Amino acid sequence: MIQTENLTKQFKTTLAVDRLTLQVQEGEVFGFLGPNGAGKTTTVRMLTSLIGPTSGKAIVNGFEVGKQDTDIRRSVGILTETPGMYDNLSAQFNLEIYASLYEVKDPKGQIEKYLRMLGLWDRRNDEAGTFSKGMKQKLAIARSLLHEPRLLFLDEPTAALDPEGARLVRDFIEELRKQGRTIFLCTHNLDEADRLCDRIGVFKSRLLVVDAPARLRSQLFGRKVVFHLHAPAPGLAQTAQALPFVQEARLVDNKLLVTLEDPDLHNPEIIRALVGAGAEIQFVGELRRSLEDVYLQLVKAA
Ligand SMILES: Nc1ncnc2c1ncn2[C@@H]1O[C@H](COP(=O)(O)OP(=O)(O)O)[C@@H](O)[C@H]1O
Ligand SMILES: [Mg+2]
Repeated sequence: MIQTENLTKQFKTTLAVDRLTLQVQEGEVFGFLGPNGAGKTTTVRMLTSLIGPTSGKAIVNGFEVGKQDTDIRRSVGILTETPGMYDNLSAQFNLEIYASLYEVKDPKGQIEKYLRMLGLWDRRNDEAGTFSKGMKQKLAIARSLLHEPRLLFLDEPTAALDPEGARLVRDFIEELRKQGRTIFLCTHNLDEADRLCDRIGVFKSRLLVVDAPARLRSQLFGRKVVFHLHAPAPGLAQTAQALPFVQEARLVDNKLLVTLEDPDLHNPEIIRALVGAGAEIQFVGELRRSLEDVYLQLVKAA
């Protein structure tokens, strides 16, 4: 659905996107995660043919950026960071304008379908200016879907919303995923990316890593197992550390924290070694490393 190769955008003094090479599969919810100023919006604008890349290549929905821009713009849906609405026009009229712009086939039917789906049908005659932020965002989502794009770009869709509004929008993204649409979701919200996305690309001008959220947490950085001991025993850290698959072992009070890649496979051997060295193990658990730790580590290093 999306394929880029060394896609680059240089503004006068800013290298906003640096040789981005990426593939997003059909039906995937791809999280594009990065701090403010990382170049997420710039990337979306290039992938939706709103601005041209400085160099590199991108194929979107089978069309090439820079060569088939009209096809791209027609075939994708985009929810921008600050979607503008005509505040003094009704919700319905706002959508009608857009539907005619996009030559939507059955505008009345499509508008009704999405206003109903997003719970705005009863408010269709109200001016958009009277809507709450959450309702405006839902109206903007409806607008981005009128022409039934299979690929949808959502740029920080929940950033300006309160928790309730954010929840509604997230639930709706889940719904879109169930319909098999491909979603490119820009966010700086880790929790959101973790919950909604099949894969996450951590991005800060460059693509730092791409993986499934769970694998980002575990594979890349190891999992942490905690052994609760009857009493602190300094020698046990060395015992664990001596095992070839242990990345790190540290004693904190009477807890031994062991980092390793595959606890399911190696915990029994660690336990044998510890018991052999005289440990009295009361309890074994796993510390779930948050995606936030991983993310902060990556972004800081970049
Ligand atoms: N039109 C522009 N002209 C010059 N610099 C820009 C322009 N648009 C974005 N930038 C710069 O490019 C960088 C990335 O911006 P942006 O893509 O908006 O990041 P994000 O969406 O991740 O917050 C920022 O340093 C920003 O100031
Ligand atoms: Mg942005």
